[in-house]
Amino acid sequence: MDSTYATAFLAILVAGWFVYAKRAKKTSLPGPPHLPLIGSMHHMPTKSAWLVFSEWNKVYGGIFHLDVLGKPIVVINSVKIAKDLLDKRSSIYSDRPHAIMAGDLVGFSRTLAFLPYGDIWRKQRRLVAQDFTPSMMPRYFALQEREVAALVRNLLKAPDTVRDELQLRLGTIIIRATYGYHVESLDDSMLKSGLDGIKNFSRTTTPGRYLVDIIPALRYLPVWMPGAGFLKEAEEMRQQLTDAANKPYEWCKANLMTGKTLMPNLCGSIVQDAGDQLSNDLEETTIWSAVAVLGGGLDTNESAALSFIMAMILYPEVQKKAHAELDSVIGTERLPLISDRPNLPYIRSIMAETLRWAPPGPLGVPHAVTEDDVYDGQFIPQGTVLMANIWHMLHDPEVYPSPMEFIPERFNGDDTAMDNAKELVFGFGRRICPGIHFAEGTLFCIITTLLATCDILPQLDAQGREVLPEYAYTGGSIVVPEKFNFRLKARSAYMVTLVEEASLVPPE
Ligand code: HEM
Repeated sequence: MDSTYATAFLAILVAGWFVYAKRAKKTSLPGPPHLPLIGSMHHMPTKSAWLVFSEWNKVYGGIFHLDVLGKPIVVINSVKIAKDLLDKRSSIYSDRPHAIMAGDLVGFSRTLAFLPYGDIWRKQRRLVAQDFTPSMMPRYFALQEREVAALVRNLLKAPDTVRDELQLRLGTIIIRATYGYHVESLDDSMLKSGLDGIKNFSRTTTPGRYLVDIIPALRYLPVWMPGAGFLKEAEEMRQQLTDAANKPYEWCKANLMTGKTLMPNLCGSIVQDAGDQLSNDLEETTIWSAVAVLGGGLDTNESAALSFIMAMILYPEVQKKAHAELDSVIGTERLPLISDRPNLPYIRSIMAETLRWAPPGPLGVPHAVTEDDVYDGQFIPQGTVLMANIWHMLHDPEVYPSPMEFIPERFNGDDTAMDNAKELVFGFGRRICPGIHFAEGTLFCIITTLLATCDILPQLDAQGREVLPEYAYTGGSIVVPEKFNFRLKARSAYMVTLVEEASLVPPE
């Protein structure tokens, strides 16, 4: 009985969707062939979509479209077109796609990164942007340097703990900067709930995992009905996200009085500045913007740090040149600091090349357009989802010859060329990553501290032969290198002492 009812219900929904899709105005952009009802869904790549879209550049060019059950998706491979639309027409291209499971049911659409474009987004964005401007960055240098020293100290003892260590240290940096809370270990509940939130996000945004994203009316199914288990799952994840957002904020606010909250930090500064004017609205804005900072800054930086380590193993001559620059500019009597960045052009090129070679978000975060538009004579309907193929843009052989090779020299020490590559990695228009300067500070610190202290070497097999990692990445919206092993050899006993001392500076 139940399953007959469910089948009939589904059939009506699908038929309704079909009628709707037939009526909707279609784009004239090129793209893979469509079938009735499902559109080009069967062509939608399920793995490493950026590589498939990059191949399609040869067939369809710099902008093309897919139709997934009537929903238009536009993929942009061309830098010029991405800038024309997402930067220059950002007043209409700054929305996010509407996701039923992740957004409405679990509640990620309350967070800065996934809010629809509008006033609530604007208010959240302002709070984060004003705390992460270049001039605000030096106040976090000591924190980044201490946690990176702890990272390197521990990696020297056990390089195979690199993924846990990166999550711990990157999480500690971000949670301290956002809430003034010092994380003690990977089991710390503040860190754990943030990490669980990120996992739930990744799960609920995996394309095709939840039917409700294809047939939105399924959200109104009675919870007792077979097949409605996703509603219970969504409710649990919603509670998890609400706790992950509220608890650290509440801790920060309560401990401003006890002095435990380490200042300055994003939430603490807002609460302090507001004084007795702290409204419910401002609290809500603060809570949901702050939780996006943790989500935005963890896996992305982890990915970049792992790609850097992989590149150093595969390109020992680059590592040698980097060591030489560090030895001549910094010497061997102190650790490099983030403030040394202007004096280390080769290391800056390594950082830019790392982000170019392996952008952590190869397809960025999708935008959506809020009005019908016409670009170069082609119609783009309101609600179209736009995916910028950042990976392709950074692997265009016309701009970056031998794009799969790691060649910091390609920038010729020119910071404008480096910025051109780096900017793409952090997205577009009004939605561009607000954490760009903070992320670069952390990454630069990881790169210089590791290089100043260690030789980064390939793993050896039982016969003593080198085992080189492969350029292979996991799926998902943020990609990380597949597991690989490596060795670290201290460059001197003195450097090890320095890194140990730097890691013991008390949190402040
Ligand atoms: C290597 C590190 C990072 C990379 C590659 C990166 C990349 C990106 C990208 C591609 C976007 C989407 C931009 C768009 O929609 O066009 C984004 C958004 C965002 N990032 Fe980052 N990010 C990094 C680190 C960080 C850090 C450290 C923070 C926090 C301080 C952060 C916070 C955010 C937030 C809150 C958004 C959403 C902005 C909005 O929707 O208005 N990210 N990031």
